[in-house]
Amino acid sequence: MSENKKYYITTPIYYPSGKFHIGTAYTTTFANTIKKYRQMRGYDTYFLTGLDEHGQKIQDVAMSRGKTPQEHVDEMAVAAKELWAKMKIDYDDFIRTTEPRHEKIVEQIFETFMKNGDIYKGEYEGWYCVPCETFFTPTQLVDGKCPDCGREVKMMKEEAYFFNMKKYQDRLVKFYEENPNFIEPAFRKNELFNNFIKPGLEDLCVTRTTFDWGIKVKSDEKHVIYVWLDALTNYITALGYMSEDEERFNKYWPADLQIVGKDIIRFHGIYWPIFLMALDLPLPKKLFAHGWIMMKDGKMSKSKGNVIYPETLIERYGLDATKYFLLKELSIGQDGLFTPEGFVERFNTDLCNDLGNLLNRTIGMINKYFGGEIPEKPQNLTNLDIELENFVNEKIKCVENELDEAHVSNALEEIWQIISRSNKYIDETMPWSLYKEEKTEELKDVMYHLVENLRKVAIMINPYMEETTPKMFNQLGIDNENLMTWDSIKVYPEYKDIKVVEKGEPLFVRLDLQEEIEFLKNEMSK
Ligand code: ME8
Ligand code: MG
Repeated sequence: MSENKKYYITTPIYYPSGKFHIGTAYTTTFANTIKKYRQMRGYDTYFLTGLDEHGQKIQDVAMSRGKTPQEHVDEMAVAAKELWAKMKIDYDDFIRTTEPRHEKIVEQIFETFMKNGDIYKGEYEGWYCVPCETFFTPTQLVDGKCPDCGREVKMMKEEAYFFNMKKYQDRLVKFYEENPNFIEPAFRKNELFNNFIKPGLEDLCVTRTTFDWGIKVKSDEKHVIYVWLDALTNYITALGYMSEDEERFNKYWPADLQIVGKDIIRFHGIYWPIFLMALDLPLPKKLFAHGWIMMKDGKMSKSKGNVIYPETLIERYGLDATKYFLLKELSIGQDGLFTPEGFVERFNTDLCNDLGNLLNRTIGMINKYFGGEIPEKPQNLTNLDIELENFVNEKIKCVENELDEAHVSNALEEIWQIISRSNKYIDETMPWSLYKEEKTEELKDVMYHLVENLRKVAIMINPYMEETTPKMFNQLGIDNENLMTWDSIKVYPEYKDIKVVEKGEPLFVRLDLQEEIEFLKNEMSK
């Protein structure tokens, strides 16, 4: 076995309440990109995703479809796995909270908390809608009535178990102080700290008696363990925590990177660390809270008719263009916007004009000037080459630094600067004039550098666009694996007897703006 450093990365486990839209696809593809990057850097990676299958909401959706909850979640799990296969998501494990391997351990964790006095029995008080059998907080009510059915609600009490969060207040504060980079971006950490931790933590209700689609409390069967205790622990049950075989758990825990949307940072930034403290386990190294993909008129929702599904984009524009858009659109921690115009523009500008043309022009010139053979590494570098190489070397460092921090959009930005710089290099060196003037050595030098930059770009976009990378290598005629590794981007290799293809296929075919806007608008209103 290798002695590689390990890297454990997780996504939230999603509610299987409906078809996944591009928001869910965003988080998952983000995590997949970081996994691929770490793999290329030689890490022993482990990537977990899955489904959060219990709770009232799922029970309701199942009922409305005339299915049992189990039938419903089984179908949804198949659909989710199909989507991830289509998106070439390379997860190592897919956890479902209805699996015995999870349920058994959650029961045990609950009993451990009981035994240690972290969980106590009390009363849950709130606004209750009898027909909906659901409690609501005052802010959830609409005009003082049930937000779901609009009927009167009653103030009611039910017996419930609570987790004693207050007990861990000081330890959590200390942890935040000692690990200022635990949550990224920092503004979200500060928000969380100031709004929820500093004012003092509230104990958390961890059971319900009003629905039964969930894991029962072993010592008190009328109680069902409420979703967050059930859900958050997936990150350790999936690794075999508390099971007969804890090898994987010992190897991979603590998580190196947990990616979540800003909607659930409170649960991951407060309750999750506290559950782990109560189990005496080390805490995750980094929690990254990304923003939301928004539509022009707000969050995606079916009733607004502004939902876009990943399948739609993949089938029409390809997987890599879809991933590129998503990963580029959300800059660190901020929201991003999906508009048909924005999508088509990015496609035409970044993918066709910048990347696609660079490859196409280079292939064309090498064919025209050198019968398709990539020139050998130049002996003497011009000042312009030295400047170019320095620029590229600098950018490579930036890409690594950004990806080390999971800043996927920034890293793309840096990679695209190499592409722009290379396009500019063509304008500066004017290879067609060099050819006319028979300055063969200089012309060779320029072609070498263009190929070299393209090779480096092909490697650096590999974690994002794994279909494009092999297409680029194929067109460049590069099939030596040593020229495809991450480490190889730091060297300027010799090219011997390598021929590019005679005629390169465009990597991305330019889209007609009007036509595509119409298509996408139509899809969104389906
Ligand atoms: O919260 N933009 O599940 P969920 C970006 N089961 N990301 C989005 C998004 C959008 N518009 N919409 C959803 C749950 N997401 C719990 C999690 S974890 C122990 C339990 C992504 O199905 C984003 O990652 O509501 C967000 O945090 C997650 O989906 C919420 O998924
Ligand atoms: Mg949600």
